[in-house]
Amino acid sequence: MEIEKLKQRLLSLSLEEKVGQLVQVTPDFFGNKGEITGPLGQKIADSTRYQIGSVLGTHRAAEVKQIQADYLAHSKHQIPLLFMADVIHGYETIFPIPLALASSFDEELIERVAQNSAVEAASEGIHVTFSPMADYVKDPRWGRVLESNGEDPRLSTALTKAYVRGYQGDDLKKETSLAACVKHFIGYGAAEGGRDYNTVDISDVELHQNYLPAFEGAISAGVQLVMTSFNSVHGVPVTANKALIQSVLRGKLRFDGVLISDWAAIAELKNHRVAQTSRDAAKKAFDASVDIDMMTDCYSEELAAIVEENHLMPQLDAAVWRILLLKNELGLFENPYRGLENKVDKDQLKVEAFEVATRSAVLLKNEAILPLKKEDKLLVVGTKAATTDVLGAWSWIGDSDTAISLAAGLEKECSAIEIIAIDDEKTDWSKIKLAAHAAEKVVIAVGEDSQEAGEAASRAKLNLSAIEQELIDVISHENSESILVTFSGRPLVLTDVEEKVKAIVVAWFLGNQTGTALAALLTGQKNFSGHLPMSFPRSVGQLPYSYQEMSTGRPMTEENADQKYISRYLDEENSPLYAFGHGLSYSAFTYSELRVSTDELRSGCELELSFEVTNESELAGYALPQIYFTDEYTEVIRPKRELLAWQQVQLDCGETKTIHFTIRPEDLAYVHSDLSRTTDPGEFRFYLAKSALDIVSAVSVTYVE
Ligand code: BGC
Repeated sequence: MEIEKLKQRLLSLSLEEKVGQLVQVTPDFFGNKGEITGPLGQKIADSTRYQIGSVLGTHRAAEVKQIQADYLAHSKHQIPLLFMADVIHGYETIFPIPLALASSFDEELIERVAQNSAVEAASEGIHVTFSPMADYVKDPRWGRVLESNGEDPRLSTALTKAYVRGYQGDDLKKETSLAACVKHFIGYGAAEGGRDYNTVDISDVELHQNYLPAFEGAISAGVQLVMTSFNSVHGVPVTANKALIQSVLRGKLRFDGVLISDWAAIAELKNHRVAQTSRDAAKKAFDASVDIDMMTDCYSEELAAIVEENHLMPQLDAAVWRILLLKNELGLFENPYRGLENKVDKDQLKVEAFEVATRSAVLLKNEAILPLKKEDKLLVVGTKAATTDVLGAWSWIGDSDTAISLAAGLEKECSAIEIIAIDDEKTDWSKIKLAAHAAEKVVIAVGEDSQEAGEAASRAKLNLSAIEQELIDVISHENSESILVTFSGRPLVLTDVEEKVKAIVVAWFLGNQTGTALAALLTGQKNFSGHLPMSFPRSVGQLPYSYQEMSTGRPMTEENADQKYISRYLDEENSPLYAFGHGLSYSAFTYSELRVSTDELRSGCELELSFEVTNESELAGYALPQIYFTDEYTEVIRPKRELLAWQQVQLDCGETKTIHFTIRPEDLAYVHSDLSRTTDPGEFRFYLAKSALDIVSAVSVTYVE
């Protein structure tokens, strides 16, 4: 619709109709059953139903069609409803969870996943996805690390941008695209104790250094919506945090799109005890410029009076305008039934889901036991051996009955295989012992259920269950040739079991094609290429943990490790069990020394880092060279080492490639105490590495302003 006409449409709305555009409910208010992802309790009056602006959590095209038609038949101004949903890692075809996708370290792959998810979701009438989740995380007790890109801000920023590009494409009017909503602004991942919805307190330097960049990235990629988070920052719940929203999000980050609250977050301002009544809550959120109230009646019941009393019509018009613009960008005025006629090639999506799953699993350890041979006499045993609960927590439309279990995948590839699925109730230990004894190799599949990770799924213990640990003990007594496959939405604590097995594969939740992908990887038809986007701690007591450890006044070094007054645990090592960036492959990659184009980088110039990587093995594969750096002297404390660049390099057997990374002075900038992001002149050290803790070689460079 032409902008002038759209303006007329805005002007023609009454105060109540304008407020209606800011209200979002589930399909339950139209007599359908929607996805419920939070507490209920809002009462929407019949009279307002046909003037609300958006709906969240529908399932299928027919439902969207019916609700939209019903709405338009009753609505005076013919402003179509926006339909939003959590399309987090696929719609009906479920791809690996985001943390698993991040293990690919591959922006193109993630862009493709987002694009494919958009195509399928758009055909079911969805216009907006509540994705990507750009939260900075370093505490796997928090179940929502499942939806994150892991613990590195640079990696997370790059992947967040890739999601936005994939969902939105180059033109939102294309009916195969979705508008993206980056969430949760801001600080949600820092919940104290890793307990979901808990208090957050972070310094400004930390906020600007680590939390904002992924949001900034999404905004620079053109993200259409931002969602506020449940938590407080600086003592004020973000949904009412005018300073953060107005000066940081709308100001510094220049976000001028639609800002939506998280589910019931406006009413929850009363639980935070920063609002006494729904009217206070609505006023605070509106003042902070939250445009859409998701699933409470604060705006629908209170906002009209607030606007009248406080003469806030210009602010209300601005909020409604942002929503109308979004509807217009999506082409809804021309076609309220956008996407519903799209044809989707489901078979092609299956193929994609398989390929992507093979790129997302991570091989942590392999003592010459993998790959399996087709004729290996195999026992597949464990709580997760035959489960199809492998889609992950955010897969509403995905049907686990269509998912392929590990056992089903392996059965197709291996000729002599016995499967024993175990649960707490009836474990036949003598049968397991006999089978383990008779097998040549044992695949032990254990880990989390899909409901043990994700929202409202915090855990204080991250080890395997008692029965799973017992199973590993029993197997290790009977057969030393065992492979552990773990399913989870987060890093687990595997310290007690890792010595008892010869290989460890992190399967996360790999989606519909879990079994086929794992079977292809375990039998060597596909090569492992995933790397950890989040460290696996040795124990929960180390958390929160990130490889980006800050310098301290009393660091532990090799030389002082026997002294008392140093930063260490008495009962645990400082390092994780498996570090960020770690991941093995069946190929063997070797690296040359790291070279640098100059040892003096001048302002306005660039630096080139280069090296050779060779695949010394008989198998083609992907290497993941990682470049880290240290700024030797800084104004505020900085990490001992931080990731700067990486590349997935495909190499045939015997092949060598020369890899170049171009570094500009601004790539080395950090947030100073006055919150400016600048690069200090001085010494920098660059590292070529296989993981955050596995350095291959290093060079030093001086930056001269
Ligand atoms: C979650 C959001 C989600 C929303 C809508 C909330 O509980 O925190 O991430 O997008 O529900 O389902």
